[in-house]
Amino acid sequence: MRTLKVALLGCGVVGSDVARYMARHAADLTARIGAPVEFAGIAVRQADLPRPGVPEHLITTDADELVKRADVDVVIEAIGGTDRARDLITTAFEHGASVVSANKALIAAEGAALHATAAAYGVDLYYEAAVAGAVPLLRPLRESLAGDRVTRVLGIVNGTTNFILDRMDSLGADYAQALKEAATLGYAEADPTADVEGFDAAAKAAILAGIAFNTRVRLDEVYREGITAVTAADIENAKAVGCVIKLLAVCERSADGSSVTARVHPAMVPLSHPLAAVRGAFNAVFVEAEAAGQLMFYGPGAGGAPTASAVLGDLVAVCRNRLAGITGPGDAAYQQLTVSPMAEV
Ligand code: HSE
Repeated sequence: MRTLKVALLGCGVVGSDVARYMARHAADLTARIGAPVEFAGIAVRQADLPRPGVPEHLITTDADELVKRADVDVVIEAIGGTDRARDLITTAFEHGASVVSANKALIAAEGAALHATAAAYGVDLYYEAAVAGAVPLLRPLRESLAGDRVTRVLGIVNGTTNFILDRMDSLGADYAQALKEAATLGYAEADPTADVEGFDAAAKAAILAGIAFNTRVRLDEVYREGITAVTAADIENAKAVGCVIKLLAVCERSADGSSVTARVHPAMVPLSHPLAAVRGAFNAVFVEAEAAGQLMFYGPGAGGAPTASAVLGDLVAVCRNRLAGITGPGDAAYQQLTVSPMAEV
C-alpha cells in the first residue's frame, strides 16, 4: 500500500491545527482514505518559531522546492493572500499535485483560472474551508443539491463581524475592543479590514453564488458594505424594534433563472428569525431550493480547528480521488448567467 504525501504551506492559525489534527487523526484518515497519509514537509516563512505539536524536522522555508517535489500528492495551501499563494498552487498543479486551499480571497478572484489549470494537469482543487469554516456547504451545494434548483442563499459567513456585532449587542462592548478580541482568538484576517469592510464575506458570497447557481460570479460583481459604520446607537435602535444587526451575504437567482445577484451588507434581522440567534464567530447559511425547500447550515465559521476540519475533509476526498485515478467535480460545466445589480433581481 503506498503512502500519500502531503505538503503543507503555512503553519499559522489554520496550518498548525491542520498539522496537529492530521497527526491526531492519522489512523482514522488512513482508514477513510484506504492508505496512509503523511507530511512531505511544512513550509513556513520563519523556521525558528515555537510550534507545539508540529514535528520540527518537517519544517522548511523553501516552499518553492516543496511544491515541486515529485513525491508530493497533495499540497495544502494555508498561507492566505493572493499572488504568492496562486504561484505556489500553479506550480503544484504543474508538478502533478492536487491542492486543498482555505483561501477565499484567491478562489473568489482567480478560481476559474485555477480550476482550468487543475483540469489541464488532471489534478484536483478543493476549498471547502474557504467558506464558513467547518460548516459543510460547498460540497452539499455542488453535489447533494445538484439535482435541485437553488434559488437563494442567505447567511452569516464572516465570524469576526458576527463576533463583534454580538459583543456590541449582548455586552455593550466597544467596537475596537471586540475586534481585538476576535483577532486574539484567531478569527480575524491578518488585515482585519477584510473582515470589517466586508471583503471577506464578499469573497465568500462570490464563491457561494457561483457554486449554488452553477455559474461564475466575479468578486467585483458583489455589492459590498461592511460594519464600520454600525454604531452603538444603531444596535440600540434595532433592539428597540425587536431586531439585531447582522452582516448578511445574500445570493439570489431571478425568477426566470437568467440572472443572479450577490451582496453583502448589514441588515436588521428580527429576533424571531433563526439567524438572530447566531452568536460569536458562528456562521449560519440558509439555502432555499425549489424541491428541497429551506435548509440551514450552521456551525463554527472561523478559527484554526474548525477550518482544519474542513481542510482535512477535503484532503480525504482528494486522496481518495488520487488513489482511484479520478478527479472530483471542477467548475467546467457552468452556465454563464448574467450577474445583475441587486435592484434588478
Ligand atoms: N476572518 C474570517 C472570519 C475567517 O472571521 O470569518 C474565516 O474565513
